[in-house]
Amino acid sequence: EKGGFDWFMRKEIFEQPRAIADALLGRHDEAGQLQLDEVRISDDELRDIDKIIIIGCGTAHYAGLVAKYAIEHWTRIPCEVELAHEFRYRDPILTRNTLVVAISQSGETADTLMAIRHAVKQRARVLAICNTNGSTIPRESDAVIYTHAGPEIGVASTKGFLTQLIACYLLGLYLAQVRGTKFGDEIAGVVRELAQMPANVQTILDDAESVYALAQRFQGTRSVLFLGRHAGYPVALEGALKLKELAYIHAEGFAAGELKHGPIALIEEGLPVFCVVPPRGRDQLHDKMISAIQEVRARGALTIVLAEASDTEVAAYADVLIGLPTVPTLLQPVVATVPLQLFACELATLIGHDVDQPRNLAKSVTVE
Ligand code: F6R
Repeated sequence: EKGGFDWFMRKEIFEQPRAIADALLGRHDEAGQLQLDEVRISDDELRDIDKIIIIGCGTAHYAGLVAKYAIEHWTRIPCEVELAHEFRYRDPILTRNTLVVAISQSGETADTLMAIRHAVKQRARVLAICNTNGSTIPRESDAVIYTHAGPEIGVASTKGFLTQLIACYLLGLYLAQVRGTKFGDEIAGVVRELAQMPANVQTILDDAESVYALAQRFQGTRSVLFLGRHAGYPVALEGALKLKELAYIHAEGFAAGELKHGPIALIEEGLPVFCVVPPRGRDQLHDKMISAIQEVRARGALTIVLAEASDTEVAAYADVLIGLPTVPTLLQPVVATVPLQLFACELATLIGHDVDQPRNLAKSVTVE
């Protein structure tokens, strides 16, 4: 049943190339035009949307954080991201032209369900991004994009998360297509990049052993930090969450720009700090991230740097370098998350924890 793997989680990590391919299947044509048949909200209605609020919990919330960068960039529709339980109890401003996007692997998370019920009552339009066919959240939504990852049994979300990212990208591109905010060839270009993702993720999985060796080295670690910027920031949060829930060690993700506003005081000799470096592009993100790495390294941190494999500039600041395939900045979370999943899974295994059933956690949280 675990297909030769020790844990469902590890099996599910290795299933990600196939899961991503399935999430993309049938959703675009040869020319890169998107087709999202399950979005039962008319094009006219989609053109009227003037605000998007993405809600979810835990890992699903992090997928929403990534989605905000992409959706705002491609569609220019203002987009907020909020924890479902915070959204529900703060009297959010919702109108007929608000699109609430609820992300949930299980489709049964009570916090997210209560939030969409509130949104429906306020007459907002609700679209679910969900992995479980026929579950409650998509049934109570106006539209659904299924992630098609297949059953996720490990309590920690892995392929669920990566396919949530894919669904969010598809939604953003679809909105851009319907509203004409991006030209067709630009959309087709991103679709081509998405189509490369199964192969890109596979190259990281093929090198899993080097991440496992890293886990071996950090077995006695009590605390780990994760830094990222822009779309790399949610990746940092996700890397920290995986480590907390599986290895039960203190881990925190920060936006790299926040360091000097407080967290840098945590840096001490030998502290492992994972740094997610955006691709080298025309913008300043890459250089800013390098400065952050220099800052923590100067204070004794041990830097584990995730960057494009071809990024020679960053290598000088990395105690350990994890090479990533070259992909656009907005899509980088799809590849950058995978080594962090492998690291948490392996470290928890070495410590001797039950990776599939971490203490105090349940696969779907059906109480508020
Ligand atoms: C973390 C994890 C949880 C879930 C969260 C939402 O690995 O699995 O943080 O992401 O409980 O669950 P869903 O997506 O089912 O609503």
